[in-house]
Amino acid sequence: MIKINENFLKLQDSYLFSTIAKKVAEFQENNPDKKVIKLGIGDVTRPIPKAIADAMKNAVEEMENPNEFKGYGPEQGYEFLRNKIVENDYKKRGINIEIDEVFVSDGAKCDTGNIVDLFSKDNKVAITDPVYPVYLDTNVMSGRTGEYNDQTGMYDNIVYMPCNSENNFEPELPKQRPDMIYLCLPNNPTGTVLNKNQLKKWIDYAKENRSIILFDSAYEAFITQEDIPHSIYEIEGAKEVAIEFRSFSKTAGFTGIRCAYTVVPKELKAYTEKGEEISLNKLWNRRQCTKFNGVSYITQKGAEAVYSENGQKQIKENIEYYMENARIIREGLKKAGYETFGGINAPYIWLKTPNNMKSWDFFDELLTKYNIVGTPGVGFGPNGEGYFRLTAFGSRENTIEAMKRLSKL
Ligand code: MLT
Repeated sequence: MIKINENFLKLQDSYLFSTIAKKVAEFQENNPDKKVIKLGIGDVTRPIPKAIADAMKNAVEEMENPNEFKGYGPEQGYEFLRNKIVENDYKKRGINIEIDEVFVSDGAKCDTGNIVDLFSKDNKVAITDPVYPVYLDTNVMSGRTGEYNDQTGMYDNIVYMPCNSENNFEPELPKQRPDMIYLCLPNNPTGTVLNKNQLKKWIDYAKENRSIILFDSAYEAFITQEDIPHSIYEIEGAKEVAIEFRSFSKTAGFTGIRCAYTVVPKELKAYTEKGEEISLNKLWNRRQCTKFNGVSYITQKGAEAVYSENGQKQIKENIEYYMENARIIREGLKKAGYETFGGINAPYIWLKTPNNMKSWDFFDELLTKYNIVGTPGVGFGPNGEGYFRLTAFGSRENTIEAMKRLSKL
């Protein structure tokens, strides 16, 4: 008899964004005359910049040419792209990352999900609450959690670190020692950030406890304020304790094209049962070579163009466009009497629901009365209850229209 991985049965019925998409599709089917504005999933709406599109077109032409055609590429990514990453994303910030510490992939969602392959099932996992659901669900799937508790909305054997308006969205250092600590900064879903001193506490804590930090900085390009670290490696000692995940998705409009990268420093070690030190860089390389055949050449040529002069100028224009949307949302909500968080260094605005309304009730009300889609805070964890997320990735026109509708709430 074929048996399943029963850990999958511990998962909640469906992935958050699929549940939302289904609810919205149903509503639209029953109300075809209504213009629904989608500010739910953080998906970009601006087309890819011309410099990137041109580079991809050239790459397609190369592939047509018998002398330039390319088959399998390196599993870790082409050197031309990894060099640009090292030079621009790290060296320019005074960080020394070597090319063989960079692994190009088809998305930070996949990488943050796949990284769990490297770690023992016995490891204790700490997540912020609310949290990007991939970190939690992939640990559920791989058996690192107990059962889901309907009463608390939490899984057993996970360290939840509440982030809410009471603690200014700064997670407390856990009292119970975790092995794997997930941090996403700028944060999805709350749009909030930690400064260098706040982040340094985590590096020190991870060192003291021989834990590892899985640092998702997919939204670093949206940082507007000084003193907010773009990379965890801006903080001394981080290379000994942290893996960093980066993405071209939101930065350069690649949500549909798919390209990201993960940095696994060579200093970073984890241990065998017997206490022997093992390089995680080597393990990740081994894992990728076995399970992944690299990102397409055409895509990587597009990603390389992100770092060209025109590419930089054009992605900056898009990022500014989205951050202007964020400002419109923040100010629109404030005028309408909402308490909001985030949206200054991130394309997400986190708001308190009116009169402590439940997140899903607020979702239903927004959808049915105002035809606006957002993401219920509780979908990201129990501490998200009573909150709601809007994304700044919509079009300007829709963002303004949504704020007009909301001001009538
Ligand atoms: C989100 O809306 O949280 C993100 O778009 C999801 C993702 O990046 O996978």
